[in-house]
Amino acid sequence: MLKKIILLGPPGSGKGTQAKRLAESFGYLHLSTGDMLRDEVKKGSQLGQKAKAIMEKGELVPDTLIVAMIKSRLAVDNGGVILDGFPRTVAQAEALDAMLTEAGETIDRALLVDVSDGEVTKRLLGRAEIEGRADDTPNVIANRLNVYKQQTEPIVDYYSKLSKLTRINGEQVIEQVFADLKAVVRG
Ligand code: AP5
Repeated sequence: MLKKIILLGPPGSGKGTQAKRLAESFGYLHLSTGDMLRDEVKKGSQLGQKAKAIMEKGELVPDTLIVAMIKSRLAVDNGGVILDGFPRTVAQAEALDAMLTEAGETIDRALLVDVSDGEVTKRLLGRAEIEGRADDTPNVIANRLNVYKQQTEPIVDYYSKLSKLTRINGEQVIEQVFADLKAVVRG
């Protein structure tokens, strides 16, 4: 059974949906940096105040803030963890490696949920009508996709070079994507 898992993919690819299901199914910890940041914004903490405007534009919160935030939650106790939305830059991937190495651990696999720009845009605009998330507007969605390509896609290469990358077709019904992901996590 794989234990330290990263879910990678563009905004709206289904990382949150699948991470929650995987964490429940395997009894793993689900760590979503997006959810953590939204909590900080809601609380009005110092971090939340810094992150709010950045998130509303669809830009990335600085690596130093993200790494400090995740470090305090990443219980390195040999348990399973599903990382959702982190790492998002090569600097974050390197910081994660350093954190885990210090504890004698390593990332087992990065699962890339592959979905086209057209499909993720359709999904996020659909979600906007139901949930009204501040960053689900047409302009911000376009910027998030751009930021993903510029700053996050390089980590696909990073894990590929380490032979730790598996691509999953994310343009299938939720149940099928979940079945494909579970098969990889089972090892
Ligand atoms: P974050 O919350 O991580 O947003 P995101 O990556 O843009 O992801 P989403 O939550 O929009 O999509 P998802 O892939 O989780 O898909 P979901 O399951 O929700 O980050 C928000 C912001 O926080 C960032 O822009 C940045 O500012 C900041 N941030 C976060 N982490 C950071 C980091 N590490 N470094 C720096 N900044 C950071 O699904 C989307 C919709 O599609 C839902 O309605 C769902 O029901 C539907 N859906 C899911 N799967 C399917 C399917 N198979 N078929 C049809 N519909 C589906």
